[in-house]
Formats: sequence, C-alpha cells, structure tokens
Amino acid sequence: MIKVEGLVKSFGRQAVLRGLDLEVATGSITVIIGRSGGGKSVLLRHLIGLLSPDGGRVLVDGAEITGLRGRALDEVRRRYGVVFQGGALFDSMTCAHNVAFPLREKLRLPGAEVARRVEAALAQVGLEGVERKYPAEVSGGMRKRVAIARALVTEPEIVFFDEPTTGLDPILVNTIHHLILNLHRKLRFTAVMVSHEIPEIFEIADTVAVLHEGRIVEVGPPAAIQASTNRVVRQFIRGEPEGAEGS
Ligand SMILES: Nc1ncnc2c1ncn2[C@@H]1O[C@H](COP(=O)(O)OP(=O)(O)OP(=O)(O)O)[C@@H](O)[C@H]1O
Ligand SMILES: [Mg+2]
Repeated sequence: MIKVEGLVKSFGRQAVLRGLDLEVATGSITVIIGRSGGGKSVLLRHLIGLLSPDGGRVLVDGAEITGLRGRALDEVRRRYGVVFQGGALFDSMTCAHNVAFPLREKLRLPGAEVARRVEAALAQVGLEGVERKYPAEVSGGMRKRVAIARALVTEPEIVFFDEPTTGLDPILVNTIHHLILNLHRKLRFTAVMVSHEIPEIFEIADTVAVLHEGRIVEVGPPAAIQASTNRVVRQFIRGEPEGAEGS
C-alpha cells in the first residue's frame, strides 16, 4: 500500500499541496483527477521521490520514502515504472533503445536478455516493426505505447501514469485504457494514474481521488464519485463552468 500523510508543498509563495492524505491499495488502479495546475503531477513526483515535501510523508508498504537519497531511493525506484506526462521518450534513441534503457540502467541485464525483454514488451503493447525507428518517426499514439512498454519492461510492482492518453483521438484513448487494463490484469501491478479523461476513467478505475485546492476532497469507487453530492466534485466531473451553481 502507498500511504500519503499530510503532504505539504509550496513553490515560493504558491501553496500547491496543503496537507494531502491518500491511500492507494496494493494491486488497485487509482486515478487522480482534478483541475489543470492543481498539483497532480507534483503529487506524483513526491510518490516517485523526485520532489521532497515541506511537510508530511509518503510510505510504501510501511516504509517512509520521503527523505531517501542515493542508493536507498534507487532501491525503491527499482520497483517502479513511470509513464511521464507527455511520454518523455529519449528523442536521440530508437524506440527499442528507449524500452531497453531501464533494463540496462536499473537492472543491468546482459544484452541478450535485454533484447528478448524489449521484443516481448513491444509485442505486449501491440507494437511491431518500430524497433529501429526514432520517436519522431512514429505517431503520437505509438509513442505513448512505447512509453508504456518502457515503464512495464522491468516488471514493476507499482506503475505511475501521468496523463497517458492526453492528446489522443477518442478511439486511441479507449485503446490505451484497455491496454492498461489488460496489462494490469496480467501483471497485477499497483497503478496510480493522473487523467483528465472523464467519463472514460470511471470504467477502468477501482478508486478515483479528486484533488482540489491542495487536498484530496473525495475518494472512492467510480460509482460513489459519480453520485457524489460534493459541489466541487459534481461541477468538475460534469465540466460545468466556473461559478456555475449545481442544480
Ligand atoms: N518545479 C516547480 N517549480 C515551481 N512551480 C512548480 C513546479 N512544479 C510545479 N509547479 C507549479 O505547481 C502547480 C501544480 O502543477 P502540476 O504540474 O502538479 O499541475 P497538474 O495538476 O499536473 O496540471 P495538468 O493537469 O495541467 O498537468 C502549477 O502552478 C505549477 O506551475
Ligand atoms: Mg500534470
């Protein structure tokens, strides 16, 4: 289980996280939704250990990761896979080298084993024939798949997805969601996803958490969030304009 307790983070005078609590059950798909600029990516970066909080802590299976550095942090990150917002592939590397990267860097596997795993990871996301292509030579949807293959290739226990479908057409959004769902069924990782895809994410999430003004204001199964009486939540999931009163 991932447990976030009273997380506080400011940048200069801007308070982004204001005492945020969240629990992510092992093996679940937890989706974090909320306004653009609300701090979702900042929260993910704390879970990954890329940012240190001003207050509060993050526990993974009971062990505190906040404040870890160097090798101790690497140990934790070895259990992680990350799909960064925008995909963030290395443009100077072929798709195959992108997927191979964490196997070489994190696991230091021998070449033959790397090649075997890269081939399997690309096949798993339905990509063939892109091995020698550079990210700029494949479509946006293919780049997302390469990023997902790269995140999963190390067989991580916990996978973070920061807006894995943003900018894709509705059919591809669905395709990627089903891909993630199928991979989740097969590999049983814990998934923490940030997404703006409403209502689609209600079909794949076990738990939805709504981030608003630096805190999780509502958390629960999709049906409970959709039936929420919290005005902020209702306005957000219905996309009502700011200032509009719910009926
Ligand atoms: N390293 C940083 N230094 C200064 N400010 C930052 C930094 N990282 C994030 N912020 C600020 O924190 C706020 C939250 O940013 P964040 O990227 O978490 O938003 P988000 O909820 O992920 O939005 P989106 O849905 O658009 O991706 C923003 O105002 C952003 O400018
Ligand atoms: Mg973001």
